[in-house]
Amino acid sequence: MNLPILFTFSLLVSISCADTVFDFCVGDLSLPSGPSGYACKDPAKVTVDDFVHSGLGVAGNTTNMFKFGASVAFSPQFPGLNGMGISMVRADLGVGGAVPIHTHRVAELLILVEGTVIAGFINTNNTAYYKTLHKGDIMIFPPQLLHFQVNVGSTPVVTYASFASDNPGVQSVDAVFTNDLPSKVVEKVTLLDHAQVKKLKKVFGGSN
Ligand SMILES: *[C@@H]1O[C@H](CO)[C@@H](O)[C@H](O)[C@H]1NC(C)=O
Ligand SMILES: *[C@@H]1O[C@H](CO)[C@@H](O)[C@H](O)[C@H]1NC(C)=O
Repeated sequence: MNLPILFTFSLLVSISCADTVFDFCVGDLSLPSGPSGYACKDPAKVTVDDFVHSGLGVAGNTTNMFKFGASVAFSPQFPGLNGMGISMVRADLGVGGAVPIHTHRVAELLILVEGTVIAGFINTNNTAYYKTLHKGDIMIFPPQLLHFQVNVGSTPVVTYASFASDNPGVQSVDAVFTNDLPSKVVEKVTLLDHAQVKKLKKVFGGSN
């Protein structure tokens, strides 16, 4: 290896290792989280169980108006993910069910494990990208864009998705109706009439 190449190689190695100063940082949920996640649990108290989460083997409860249940493994549920930049969710959809349109802070990679869905997203130019997915298909939802799934088959659907963050957050459009924002304001910003706003606030647990 000649010197300039060796030098460049060493530089790349030192740059890529520069921020790798820990093997893991299991989240300490007793302290608040900040922009870089949770503080680290004392490594001496970490065990293998901090790196294993068992919740996704169980179907989410689909007895609700969307016939949709989610089992979430983000850092608050699975503190071993803290600082890892990755997380996962399982979604179950009953026949006729749907994942209501929503967003996350980061990209999501979906895999369809059982059933048939129409999945899609809408970009900032209002173009809708959607397609019928079959078992084994995967689809990427870009960061922050509205996306959804609809069970269009005659059997229940199971999907899993991974996220490019250990705590990607989720915000559903029904958040508009899930709080105490006065109905008059909601009517103005949605063009829905008073009765529709009142109805949706009742359905999604809002008030005012
Ligand atoms: C599923 O959710 C419904 C509605 O909240 C509830 O009545 C039912 O007990 C739940 N089922 C299970 C198995 O938790
Ligand atoms: C944005 O949408 C408009 C109208 O729907 C379309 O004509 C245009 O090609 C789109 N631009 C991009 C970059 O997708």
